Amino acid sequence: MNKSDKKASDKYILDRSLSNRIEVSNICKSYTSNHGVNTEILNSITFEIGQSEFVSIVGPSGCGKTTLLKIISGLIKPDSGKVTIGGDSPLKSRGSKSIGYVFQDPALIPWRTVYENIRLPIEVNKQADDTNSRNIEELISLVGLDGFSKHYPHQLSGGMRQRVSLARALSINPKLLIMDEPFGALDEITRESMRYELLDLWTKTKPTILFVTHNSAEAVFLSDRIIVMPKAGAGKTTNITVSLERPRTENTESEEMFNQLINQVRRSYKC
Ligand SMILES: Nc1ncnc2c1ncn2[C@@H]1O[C@H](COP(=O)(O)OP(=O)(O)OP(=O)(O)O)[C@@H](O)[C@H]1O
Ligand SMILES: [Mg+2]
Repeated sequence: MNKSDKKASDKYILDRSLSNRIEVSNICKSYTSNHGVNTEILNSITFEIGQSEFVSIVGPSGCGKTTLLKIISGLIKPDSGKVTIGGDSPLKSRGSKSIGYVFQDPALIPWRTVYENIRLPIEVNKQADDTNSRNIEELISLVGLDGFSKHYPHQLSGGMRQRVSLARALSINPKLLIMDEPFGALDEITRESMRYELLDLWTKTKPTILFVTHNSAEAVFLSDRIIVMPKAGAGKTTNITVSLERPRTENTESEEMFNQLINQVRRSYKC
């Protein structure tokens, strides 16, 4: 770790004094179609996530993963049930800038530079001052984009755009980082290097991470625990603890336990 990385990581760790434990209790959510048909998507979903835990959520397409992430981040309300983040409601956590959200599509603003895109949440939250400006430079370093702060999104590769999106989510120093298939659009090589970069960032800044992926190997490689969601409207989630040693390296993938865990995730998927 170089000197400026160390300075940045120390700051994040010091700022993170409150517990960011997440409790998801009996969440139910249905959607009503234009024809008035009501479909239950989430049926009494319950789980807990510890402070600084890295948890992946996997499950069949349409089972409600994005819906659940939106409920946890306070973007939509459940029909019933409760979410707390460090004891606060999702809305309060969003208000206190405790949640960073990385979408599948980096969704950068094309006429803003890398620096300006990363700074956007701070401006929206009316926190633009010199202290935060310094943080942006540190974040650009942290995500490996030194020298690109004045570039526009169209001048970046897909992986670089996704790193800007990650830095933007980190700009508010979130206690909880929510990532919805963030690497889905990337090629396999870039995706692999993003995995290492994400783990490196997590080690330095230690937010709680909730990461949605369709890729079982990716979930096993990254996580402390995997939550397998049932198909839409079905009841129980399955928890799979990943006790592979950290740091995870290329050797991790050749461990017998790595492949056993992938098979376990795939089997749970089919239940
Ligand atoms: N705003 C909405 N109005 C009506 N139905 C919706 C709405 N949002 C999602 N749905 C439906 O809810 C179900 C779950 O959607 P969601 O996006 O949460 O699934 P997902 O598990 O994230 O799927 P994927 O893995 O494909 O991203 C889908 O059948 C979808 O059509
Ligand atoms: Mg989704």
